Order: sequence, then structure tokens, then C-alpha cells
Amino acid sequence: FVETLVKFTVIGGGASKDLAKRLARKLKAVYIETETKIFPDGESKITLRKIPKKSVILVVQSTYPPVDTNLLQALSIISQVRKISSRTFAIIPYMGYARQDKQFLSGEVITMSVVAKMLQSAGAKKVIVVDIHSNTALNHFNIPTENISAVPELANYFKKLNLKNPLVVSPDVGGSSRSKKFASLLKTDFIVLKKHRDRKTGRVSIQTTKADVQGKDLILVDDIISTGGSIIKAAQFLKKQKCKRVFVACTHGLLVEGAEKKIRKAGVSRIISTNTIPGNTSKVDVSGILAKSVQ
Ligand code: R5P
Repeated sequence: FVETLVKFTVIGGGASKDLAKRLARKLKAVYIETETKIFPDGESKITLRKIPKKSVILVVQSTYPPVDTNLLQALSIISQVRKISSRTFAIIPYMGYARQDKQFLSGEVITMSVVAKMLQSAGAKKVIVVDIHSNTALNHFNIPTENISAVPELANYFKKLNLKNPLVVSPDVGGSSRSKKFASLLKTDFIVLKKHRDRKTGRVSIQTTKADVQGKDLILVDDIISTGGSIIKAAQFLKKQKCKRVFVACTHGLLVEGAEKKIRKAGVSRIISTNTIPGNTSKVDVSGILAKSVQ
């Protein structure tokens, strides 16, 4: 490996190789791939064949499922490269555990605070995330953090679809500001549904009883789609209100437990997510906004 004097070195963890490569290209940085082997017992073995030197090192690794495996891989890479660079930044485009940022029911462990401590002690000097579920999650860090919004990129994608007067819908009150921003970028209106989630069973219900959406194309905007429960309930409600088509835009398409199929079955025409989590629906690239944030 011939050392090149560049400002950034990008290291792609196993969960975010493609995104890391794109980021390196945008930054004209050296890209270093990690070799990851998973042993039959589930342990990860990571090898860094090239050694980065004299640069800010960006370790890119989302922590989508298998969440703990991907998290431990991120921690392992960071703890290895901190030996080389005192400027090791952790780019965790999708930050798992961010929804466990506070105690909802008594006795619950705030695992986000444990994750923050681990990333810091592994050697991350800064943490960069994309559309983290809440800013409360970032308050658990004692190092600089940056939360980048992919909403403009998602809105751009939808602009190109040339939908006629689409109405933006937030499936819950917590997502209102996101939908407001999305709608303003699309120069259109938005509405907010009231969602209830049973904290014990996790079951979701829509409490809004009426919405003026008849004959309209709708874009449901959310940060995360996990099981699809929230989006499915919202889509079913909106269909009952006689809307036209329902599109879905989200930053992080976890889409677990067959969510994609179930969402389509609920009448959704298209699901669009970003490449913070690679998959069928990840049509929007966030490498550009990540590059801008570090430059
Ligand atoms: C919740 O507040 C989040 O913004 C998402 O709506 C939620 O986490 C999605 O989860 P699921 O797809 O399982 O309903």
C-alpha cells in the first residue's frame, strides 16, 4: 500500500460498503475496504489489509440488522484505526437503538446511552448520522455529533415523479416537522395523522377519524420503516378516505418481517428509501450530503 497524502480516508464496514465507496469517490479520498468473515457461532472477524495514514479517517457502517453484529463491527474498526489517526470519525448513517433514547416504561434500559458510550470509548472523535430518530439520542454523546437530513434528497426524487398536487402525510405527530419540510420542498401541503402505539404490545392504531384526501395522490413520509406497522395502518386509513395513490418516502428502510410485501398489499404504489440501508427500495443516495457535511 502506497501512502497517498489525502485529507480523508474512507473505510467501509461490511454493512455500508457501497455507500462508503460512493462517499470516497465524492471526496476524492482513499477507499479502504474491510474484509469481514462471520464465524459459524456468529462472531465477526475483521481484517484491514491496507493501513490508512495521516488523514481524517471516516468509518462508515450502518447498524441495521443484524444490529448488534454491525455495531460491534463498527466498534472494532474504529478501535483499530484510532491507533493510526487521532481524527477518527464514525459515520453511522442508520443508527440502530436510536428509538431507545429514553425510558418509556419504568425499568427499561436506555440502550442508546450504552451505544454512545461504546462508540466514544472505541475512539470515535465525532459521530455523523442521517435522520436520527430523535435528537434526544444524540444527547447521550459527549463528543461532537452531526445529524444530516436526507429529506431534501428524498423530496428531489419525488419532484422528478411529477405527481400532480400531491399531499404529504405524516403518519404520526412526531414526524410533523419532517413532513412539513418535505411538503415545502415539493411546494405542496401536508397533513398529520394521530398514531397510537401500545408500549407493551407494540401494536399501532390510527386515531384520526377523517381526512380530506379524496382523489389525491399522497406521499407518506417517515424516518424509519421497520415492520411496516405504522405505514400499513396509515395507508389503510387513507385508502378508506378514498385517496388516489399512496407513495411512501422514508430515510431508513429496515423493512423487516416481510414489511415490503405487506405494505404493497396495503395498497402502497411505491416505497422509496435511501441507501443508509441498502435494499430494493433504496433509490436515494446520501453519499453527496455526507460528503458535504465533512468537507
Ligand atoms: C416511530 O415513531 C418511527 O418514526 C417509525 O414510524 C416507526 O419506528 C416505524 O416502525 P414500524 O414500521 O415497525 O411501524
